[in-house]
Amino acid sequence: MQTQAALYQEIDLELSWSENELPERERTKHVHRLHPYLGKFVPQLAEVFLRRHARPGNLIWDPFAGSGTTLVESNAFGARAAGCDVSAFNCLLMRVKTSTYEPHALLADVVRLSAPETPAKSASTSPYLKRWFAPRSVGELVAFRERIAGTEYPELWQVVLSRSARSARLARHDDLDFPAEPVQQEYFCHKHRRVCRPVGEAEKFLKRYVRDAVQRVQEFADVRSSEPVTVLHGDARELDPPGPVDLVLTSPPYPGLIDYHEQHAYAYELLGLERRDADEIGRGVKGYCEDVAAVLARARRSLRRSGKMVIVVNDRRGLYDGILSAAGLKLEDRSIRHVNRRTGRRRGEFYEEVLIATP
Ligand SMILES: C[S@@+](CC[C@H](N)C(=O)[O-])C[C@H]1O[C@@H](n2cnc3c(N)ncnc32)[C@H](O)[C@@H]1O
Repeated sequence: MQTQAALYQEIDLELSWSENELPERERTKHVHRLHPYLGKFVPQLAEVFLRRHARPGNLIWDPFAGSGTTLVESNAFGARAAGCDVSAFNCLLMRVKTSTYEPHALLADVVRLSAPETPAKSASTSPYLKRWFAPRSVGELVAFRERIAGTEYPELWQVVLSRSARSARLARHDDLDFPAEPVQQEYFCHKHRRVCRPVGEAEKFLKRYVRDAVQRVQEFADVRSSEPVTVLHGDARELDPPGPVDLVLTSPPYPGLIDYHEQHAYAYELLGLERRDADEIGRGVKGYCEDVAAVLARARRSLRRSGKMVIVVNDRRGLYDGILSAAGLKLEDRSIRHVNRRTGRRRGEFYEEVLIATP
């Protein structure tokens, strides 16, 4: 067994902070909180790796790009960024976070979206919407979706619609990640520490998140660079970045931990996005090592000789020595990041590993 002293020697202190030291508003700055996403990097982690291993103008590739933390931070750092993800909603989120917005057109969209509320033309009959939303919420969400059609930035408003739907679901406030059953009655809420009622409307969220989205994309406009960002939708075993890569910065899914399609089921339903659950790596342990090794081996072929891979993993099953060698990668360094969560129901401590690999 490892002694505590030995463990602490391996901990990288620059990558370890408690949630009290790094307040929520920093972890969710500008576009990073356009929509909640379970299993993302904190942006400050990507910032440290970029400072350590990249230069402005480099090409950074994230084959498991998720909500786009690597892409956003690489762009702010002044690097070219590219990422792919198998989930259509994640790709939508990445495009929206990294797009540019013209202030006048943005304002015109806001005016169009807040035009006198017109009831939805089409009454949705989707069993999912009926089960997970109060009737009034369904009407408001569908009416907003119809208003999006005439806007300049439809994808931005689709993300706002999804975020509002997430908040308006008949889900317990303390169980928004994977609610099992809709709530119909008052319940004791562990998040708010009081009795809460099921949500009966969506309009208040739509209004709040439209304003919030405008503020967030404008905040990012102040720090972004003009370097290109490429978002590819598909299976990372089959896709390549748009050129030779200087740094791969990624965090693969961990086996059996998060269902990346299901966590945004409401968005797939409302936006009619195609689901590719069967191609999602990490839905089980079977085949996991081969699948991740195939992605990393493909990424290695695009990596420059001097390039590096930074891979953030929760390797409690000890799979990554085998995965790296199957992918033809050499492990250069392995350090531990201490994660100390103090808020919410998921409070607690755990460790993540940061693997630095070379071709
Ligand atoms: C741990 S998350 C990455 C989170 C990301 N670092 C962020 O900050 O948002 C892993 C991602 O891998 C994606 N993924 C799973 N299987 C994939 C595949 N076959 N090809 C591409 N992406 C895949 C999931 O959809 C998920 O978004």
